[in-house]
Amino acid sequence: MQEHVKSDAPFATLMRRIADRRATVGVIGLGYVGLPLSRALAGTGHRVIGYDVDPVKAEKLNAGHSYIRHITDESIQAMRDKGFEATADVARLATADAILICVPTPLSRNREPDLSYVEMTAESLAPYLRAGQLVVLESTTYPGTTAEVLKPILEKGGLKSEETLFIAYSPEREDPGNIEFGTTRIPKVVGGDGPKAAEAVAALYGQFIDKLVPVSSTQTAEAVKLTENIFRSVNIALVNELKLVYEAMGIDIWEVIDAAKTKPFGFMPFYPGPGLGGHCIPIDPFYLTWKAREFEVPVRFIELAGEINTAMPRIVVDHVAAALDAKTGKGLNGARVLVVGIAYKKNVDDMRESPALRIIELLESRGAKTDYHDPFIPMIGPTREHGALAGRRSVPLSGAAGYDLALIVTDHDGIDWEALAAAVPLVVDTRNATRDVKTNRDRIVKA
Ligand SMILES: NC(=O)c1ccc[n+]([C@@H]2O[C@H](COP(=O)([O-])OP(=O)(O)OC[C@H]3O[C@@H](n4cnc5c(N)ncnc54)[C@H](O)[C@@H]3O)[C@@H](O)[C@H]2O)c1
Repeated sequence: MQEHVKSDAPFATLMRRIADRRATVGVIGLGYVGLPLSRALAGTGHRVIGYDVDPVKAEKLNAGHSYIRHITDESIQAMRDKGFEATADVARLATADAILICVPTPLSRNREPDLSYVEMTAESLAPYLRAGQLVVLESTTYPGTTAEVLKPILEKGGLKSEETLFIAYSPEREDPGNIEFGTTRIPKVVGGDGPKAAEAVAALYGQFIDKLVPVSSTQTAEAVKLTENIFRSVNIALVNELKLVYEAMGIDIWEVIDAAKTKPFGFMPFYPGPGLGGHCIPIDPFYLTWKAREFEVPVRFIELAGEINTAMPRIVVDHVAAALDAKTGKGLNGARVLVVGIAYKKNVDDMRESPALRIIELLESRGAKTDYHDPFIPMIGPTREHGALAGRRSVPLSGAAGYDLALIVTDHDGIDWEALAAAVPLVVDTRNATRDVKTNRDRIVKA
């Protein structure tokens, strides 16, 4: 009995500190996921320390400044007032009772899961771990990562999951810029590496998330996240394919979807576009296809969706060439094209994996001269796959009249589509952004 009480002490202490709201919570990776999560935590009474390898981010936050467009300086200052502190020194996490990991999980050059950020984080954390800590992985990843990759690194120093260390997985469902559903209002799935970890993660997250969805394991929680994103990828591929077949039949896919979505059950609208963007939907499905190979189970649906979605930029560029040809009798070679919107989706300043970058490259490979306009992205920063585009700057829309064609890739709010159609002889619209334009409709081609 004595022994049992002793071995339960780290868990009991952790649970008490959470219940009393006097825990220290460390958030690792202060990006699109980690920063809003820190903000949600900052109101709970716990002490929140944000750690990022990038010292510039820590400095900015400590000075009360944001580097993410939809998070204001005022909300960073409010976090600071509640005691939030940022650091680039991992040793500061030694004091943390709970550590939430929100680092990137991209694909490698060979399009395989790149877990190096998760592994590096775990390695750098390992020397500072102590009995009675909760470690939660938030990064999107394949089923098995928490138990097979994270846990062995964290246990290397002698701590043991469910005895002295509590490990959980809770996928982030952040929708950047969505004002209706902020971090606390989005139901959150949680899975523990055992019942104690499950209890601890639910106790902490239940203090700032309106609704928790506990599942039976970390693997299940990991699978939930991938399933959500694969669902989107497959359905987007489906409407992208339907768009092409309806177009050949002279039917407008947008009108079809608007009518179909009036069905009150059994249908959910997805919309076609210029190709997938952002760093979730184009990437996450391949985390599952990679892991599936280990089990020798084919995942043809996911691969096919990836193929269709990846082909969209090339199809858009073919549409641009055909539209120019039909209107002016000359093709892309030498044409001046203004790409409108390069963020991966409307109203965000994020261009990761944006199809716009591939489209610009394809247009230029066929001899077009391109510029871009994006009110949220004044300059293209360095990217792994489109390095040659780095340094290009957004041009003002007031100069649109000088182009042969405007290609709408991202339908940001606040752009005057009516004025655009009035200024440019031809508009190719991949987002149905011009649906309400009244005049010059003969200049608009949907793609
Ligand atoms: N952005 C989204 O909308 C979204 C939504 C759901 C899930 N996710 C997932 O969440 C995870 C994080 O995505 P994100 O969009 O926040 O990425 P991000 O690039 O915006 O932020 C990651 C942060 O981690 C930091 N970092 C990298 N390595 C580190 C290390 N070893 N130690 C400490 N900090 C480190 C980076 O400097 C960066 O600030 C990914 O797995 C992603 O798939 C993202």
